[in-house]
Amino acid sequence: MPSLNDIRSTFLEFFQRNGHRVVESSPLVPRNDPTLMFANSGMVQFKNCFTGVETRDYTRATTAQKCVRAGGKHNDLDNVGYTARHHTFFEMLGNFSFGDYFKSDAIPYAWELLTRDFDIPKDKLLVTVYHTDDEAANIWKRVAGLPDSRIIRIPTDDNFWRMGPTGPCGPCTEIFFDHGDKIWGGPPGSADQDGDRFIEIWNLVFMQNEQFADGRLVPLPKQSIDTGMGLERIGALLQGKHDNYDTDLMRALIEASAHATSTDPDGEGKTHHRVIADHLRSTSFLIADGVMPSNEGRGYVLRRIMRRAMRHAHQLGAQDPLMHRLVPALVRQMGGAYPELTRAQALIEETLQLEETRFRQTLERGLHLLADELSRIPEGAALPGEAAFKLYDTYGFPLDLTQDALREQGRSVDTAGFDAAMAEQKAKARASWAGSGETGDAKIWFQIAEDFGPSEFLGYDTETAEGQVLALVADGAAVQTAGARVQIVVNQTPFYAESGGQVGDAGWIRTETGVAQVTDTKKAAGVVIHVAEVTEGQISQGQPAKLEVDHSRRAAIRANHSATHLLNEALRRALGDHVAQRGSLNAADRLRFDFSHAKGMTPSELAQVEAEVNAVIRQNSPVETRLMTPDDARGLGAQALFGEKYGDEVRVVSMGALAGSGKGSDGQTYSLELCGGTHVARLGEIGSFLILSESASASGIRRIEAITGEGVLRDVRANYAHLEAAAAALGAVPADLAPRIKALMAERKALQNEVAQLRREVAMGGRAEGPEAKDINGVKFIAQVLSGVSGKDLPGLIDEMKARLGSGAVLLIADTGGKPAVAAGVTGDLVARLSAVALVKAAAEAMGGKGGGGRPDMAQAGGADIALADAAIAAAEAVIGG
Ligand code: ALA
Repeated sequence: MPSLNDIRSTFLEFFQRNGHRVVESSPLVPRNDPTLMFANSGMVQFKNCFTGVETRDYTRATTAQKCVRAGGKHNDLDNVGYTARHHTFFEMLGNFSFGDYFKSDAIPYAWELLTRDFDIPKDKLLVTVYHTDDEAANIWKRVAGLPDSRIIRIPTDDNFWRMGPTGPCGPCTEIFFDHGDKIWGGPPGSADQDGDRFIEIWNLVFMQNEQFADGRLVPLPKQSIDTGMGLERIGALLQGKHDNYDTDLMRALIEASAHATSTDPDGEGKTHHRVIADHLRSTSFLIADGVMPSNEGRGYVLRRIMRRAMRHAHQLGAQDPLMHRLVPALVRQMGGAYPELTRAQALIEETLQLEETRFRQTLERGLHLLADELSRIPEGAALPGEAAFKLYDTYGFPLDLTQDALREQGRSVDTAGFDAAMAEQKAKARASWAGSGETGDAKIWFQIAEDFGPSEFLGYDTETAEGQVLALVADGAAVQTAGARVQIVVNQTPFYAESGGQVGDAGWIRTETGVAQVTDTKKAAGVVIHVAEVTEGQISQGQPAKLEVDHSRRAAIRANHSATHLLNEALRRALGDHVAQRGSLNAADRLRFDFSHAKGMTPSELAQVEAEVNAVIRQNSPVETRLMTPDDARGLGAQALFGEKYGDEVRVVSMGALAGSGKGSDGQTYSLELCGGTHVARLGEIGSFLILSESASASGIRRIEAITGEGVLRDVRANYAHLEAAAAALGAVPADLAPRIKALMAERKALQNEVAQLRREVAMGGRAEGPEAKDINGVKFIAQVLSGVSGKDLPGLIDEMKARLGSGAVLLIADTGGKPAVAAGVTGDLVARLSAVALVKAAAEAMGGKGGGGRPDMAQAGGADIALADAAIAAAEAVIGG
């Protein structure tokens, strides 16, 4: 009996043999379709190949596609566990032709695979075709030899497949298996078609049109093929089962659930086990594809599925969290075909355990409340909406969980009452922020959040995505269309909004009618705001848009952000545990990190930190992100970042391994931080790390600025250029620069001394021995007018002359070209009877100046007229002469 894994391989190999490229399943979160919550069929990732917008290097493909139908239009959640063929998660096997082959090949391929490779008896098979599709009917007749009675023409949309209200579409042919008359039911198109006898196993869509929103149905550039076969259904058939949950893969999960709860897989708890097995698959695959439980959007769908499973686990009597213990069984079954599941195993287990631990705290009390409410209303009556809302609001019971719990008792919920209670709460919340003094500008974001919900961030996994323009704001007001500066809100976005020190992304938003250049991204009220300038055409509300983050800028920001984490740890290890982050900036061109530390770092501390960060970068280990409670994260030793508020769950980013600790799971992590930012996938992407400066930022706080990656290379190159220019200017090589500069500095000093000496000599009339002294009243006196010197040169010259005289008095007048300066000096032995102050005052006055001051041995003053210099000298001589 082939296992589900065998059947998947047989399918893919069959089409590979027939010239098809085996393409990996796309992630469950569609990047290329803003209107779709989850990938729900194999063709989703190829949508643009059908319409001709995209071409690839193959025209035939085959896939096993992960699909989730648990939200939006295709919602199978409520039925899972109670029926044979409903799943929230399933695998769709498909083969695709993009303008390559069409009906006349697609039908024979399907027939050959089913009847030869899968060995299904021909007489058990029948098909439907669209009522006008004679071509398909004829091919079936010719290829399969089916009689008309087993080619059923269906006139309804059942045989015209559309991916949604818009997009590629076309007539289809469906292949059915007849389980025989032991099971009730009629053939497709008959009144009893809903019975279980005839089961659809494969849908072949002849893609030939594109449906537009305005109602136009336009032929595709090339006719194409899209097929879908549920692996679980074909698996049940080939394993001789009627129920998908009896296939080997599902059975293994059911048995794991039964084993972990010590209950009978087929006993009273049968439904619970089926719910758990199904939900284990959808939740694990969603988490592996980056969805995290939350109260909005995709995250809320995940939470609803998780909590529904957890209530069923509780019903089974599980005393402790159960779901995370079943993950290894799932990884054993499906990790081979989907390696992302194995890679994310730790994250899946932690996320499930966290959610279940927390939900259990209120689950029991909620169930009591529910029992209480039910005891107060008549048997069989619907649960009042307010009670369901209280369960939702206070106990975290999603509405469908309450409905699921009541279903077992044949009861329902007054959903209109629930909606009314929800609307009332929203109105209250709105009133409370409307009056909270928010600025007009902030109000608009709250209104947008209220109307559309928060934006979904896809940028941890992707830098491009499609979204739908929900709102445009220009000059603080909502607008329908924008052609200039505008703030754009989209339902989902890869753009990171500035927070936690990481700058907002830049990039482009393109719609059918225009291009906007995004220069910054911010966030308010949970809404991501793309700050943009429409550079071509116009952008309008409601348009589908392609969003593209500026890749090289984001890569540089990522590298800087990851390097900041390593720097934080390296500083702590070099300087001590008192080092705590006090602020940071992670921009494209540099990083800045402020931290508590009392004194400046020494060059050797800086060198040690820089070298250690670079050593961890070179480990090139993958950067891991996990989600946990803040307490668990701190328990692990995560460094909480300064100034951020944390919710119930935190992202924990871990990097690198401690030297000597080995890099296995038992190795100690180098850096562990709570962080919502974007990071490199592997440390090697940082490239290199260079500290530019270390300085004081505030009292007790130091600041390091550094660069990484290409920035380092650019910086090093620029510095080399400076160095080489300097060396060229000196006619030296860079290595000789320092000694050459030292020698030049010494030479300069010597030359300066020489200049000073020469100046003095010039001042002294060019004679080394200086001017001749006069003898006045027994005092040797020198008086001189000097040109080319300034007032401040005089005291030095006075001292020199005094030294030469040994004993005497000196008067110097500086002819500065403007107001003359005068200075007088008296040697120490004479100051008792002769004061330099008296000399300078007399001389200055004689030249029309005033005042003058200093000490008895040295004084200075200013004159007014140099023409009176002789009078000044005479006045001084008169003072000496007494
Ligand atoms: N896309 C087609 C389906 O989902 C094959 O049924």
